[in-house]
Amino acid sequence: MNKVLLCPPDYFDIEYEINAWMHENNQVDTELARHEWQSLVEIYSKKLNWDVSLVEPVKGQPDMVFATDCCLINSDKIFLSNFRYPERRAETQFYEKWFRDNGYTDLKTAQHKFEGGGDSLICGDRILAGYGFRSDIESHHELNQYFDMEVISLRLINPYFFHLDTCLTVLSKEALAFYPNAFDKDSQEKLRRLFPGIIEASAEEANGFGLNAVSDGHTVITSDHSASLLQKYRGRGFEVIATPVLEFRKSGGGVKCLTLSLSS
Ligand code: ARG
Repeated sequence: MNKVLLCPPDYFDIEYEINAWMHENNQVDTELARHEWQSLVEIYSKKLNWDVSLVEPVKGQPDMVFATDCCLINSDKIFLSNFRYPERRAETQFYEKWFRDNGYTDLKTAQHKFEGGGDSLICGDRILAGYGFRSDIESHHELNQYFDMEVISLRLINPYFFHLDTCLTVLSKEALAFYPNAFDKDSQEKLRRLFPGIIEASAEEANGFGLNAVSDGHTVITSDHSASLLQKYRGRGFEVIATPVLEFRKSGGGVKCLTLSLSS
């Protein structure tokens, strides 16, 4: 059974501006956000029968709702984040506590700036890792040492796609999708070379947060705001479950940001 960890949006809000989506004058509709989050939890727990764990939200940590950012996890080994902005730094300790309370013992915190699943995606025996806005490229060496896996470094250049998981999605070991203009030329070429047939998303599809997706290799769960991209996923044989997450986009997040997958 798949296991995921989420954080209820009790304190989710726009209290600061640390990416191009966030504007303090574009506030979250708290009730709607709660409703969107609850629908996502029900997709996991009721529709897919996945095991959903929750970490206790902390007042004053509005972005803690984006559970994927706390670490990269692979086979119970956890590499904890070292957030770029002071506003988010405290989150790591609360997630670390959850992991320790829940029996995880193999944990290490990044020395260099590193933003967990926001900037790193496992694809087979490789780690795809972003840098340019949040994580430092030096953290990629740490990832390589800690997980003993090849790390493919990808440079992000578009401030609306500040985290790798906003512009690249791993649907299965072979099937990926990306928004080319979010990457520098070298990184675009690397992705096309390593993953022939990689799905290309348009600006509009990427802006709908359809690349910010969770996949178990068969079913893709993502934003309902990128209809044509979802058709591309279906065209490759994936089941797609689309759900509204636009309240979270006000903070630069979507389905994948809200979900830390614990089973790999
Ligand atoms: N407001 C959050 C930030 O700027 C959004 C994080 C989105 N997370 C992600 N995995 N893309 O840090």
